Amino acid sequence: MIRQIAPNLYSVGVVAGDLRVFHGHEMSTPRGTSFNSYLLVDEKETVLVDTVGEEYVSELLDHIRAIVDPAKITAIVSNHAEPDHGGGLADLKSLVPNATIICSNRGAESIPGYHHRDWPLRVVKTGDTLDTGRTKLTFFMASMCHWPDSMMVHVGGPDVLLSNDAFGQHYGLPARYDDEDRSGQLWFEAEKYYANIIAPFGRNVLARLDEFAALGLPVNLIAPSHGLIWRRGIADILAAYRRWANYETAKRVVLAYDTMYESTRRLADAIADGLADEAVPFNRYHLAVSDRSDVLADIFGSRGLLLGSPTWQGACLPTVASLLDSIKALKFKNISVGAFGSYGWQKAAVQMIEQRAADAGLAVPLPGVACPWRPRPADLEAARTFGRDFARAVSVSSSPLSLDGRG
Ligand code: FEO
Repeated sequence: MIRQIAPNLYSVGVVAGDLRVFHGHEMSTPRGTSFNSYLLVDEKETVLVDTVGEEYVSELLDHIRAIVDPAKITAIVSNHAEPDHGGGLADLKSLVPNATIICSNRGAESIPGYHHRDWPLRVVKTGDTLDTGRTKLTFFMASMCHWPDSMMVHVGGPDVLLSNDAFGQHYGLPARYDDEDRSGQLWFEAEKYYANIIAPFGRNVLARLDEFAALGLPVNLIAPSHGLIWRRGIADILAAYRRWANYETAKRVVLAYDTMYESTRRLADAIADGLADEAVPFNRYHLAVSDRSDVLADIFGSRGLLLGSPTWQGACLPTVASLLDSIKALKFKNISVGAFGSYGWQKAAVQMIEQRAADAGLAVPLPGVACPWRPRPADLEAARTFGRDFARAVSVSSSPLSLDGRG
């Protein structure tokens, strides 16, 4: 989709509305996504900021040709070399061999790492500028907003921040600006994107937000490399990133489990009754039939996680183990975990969930509930009491509250 977003600045990337998985098969994208690329046509320079994945290059070139002969491109800014943005670099470079590639110092590692080419690179740092004629580009190192090589570009004049991955959403519906969203899912997608992609780097995100603010550059649009451009919601998305980077969690619970012969499911039913007794909001997921990236997005913003598994081969079921691995890798914080599950010949899953939650740095405020074979009425009553006690433990948690009432 081509959209002029400022007098000499165009969005020329590719909307992949049918894409359903991202990062391999790591993350679901039920609303598709977009690979945004921006073209600045100015008096002294014609600059392309980011390319697209290799499979979308011909569409990108069609969009560029609709505005300017691609041979006129004088510089290609590679904000981040991950293949969804840098994949088209070789094709672009073959069309405009004299165009300068501009990147961060870590981009000088990742670009040749991916492309095996010895292209000359102009390495920039925060505050470096490029005079393009009527406009000035200012570069900003956004290290670890997603990768070490990540950077952003501020387009002076229209004051557009081309933020690359930061502030993105996997949103491939027909809209271009946040205020054009008619799905009502934009904020869910923005938080899911943060939880599954940016969450491990919260400390870095806070530092980069402060560093960018210190530059004193005005911002009228934040144009990320995925999804919609923030126009009306700039203050909101900046506030949300601070909140998410501080791992602020809301007083709600995720109840997630897997089950083999319905015993652990019956415990989950009883625990759900206990949560309802205490009027704590919760969402419930049977992990074998739930989308993992959606579950992770919900856990990221929740103060409590009740996680259940039967003991299987001396361990917890793979769906549960995988979820715990992801929580640890994504470095979620401010979440209390409660474990439950049934067992037969060996009692192991509950202890394993508690141990792995603690290894991930999460609190385990109450001993979990384990019951042998099929739950008896007393087991179900114990599970219901556990749900009530957990709800109360979450309610008195000292996790920080957010400015918008998430607490
Ligand atoms: Fe959209 Fe880190 O790539």
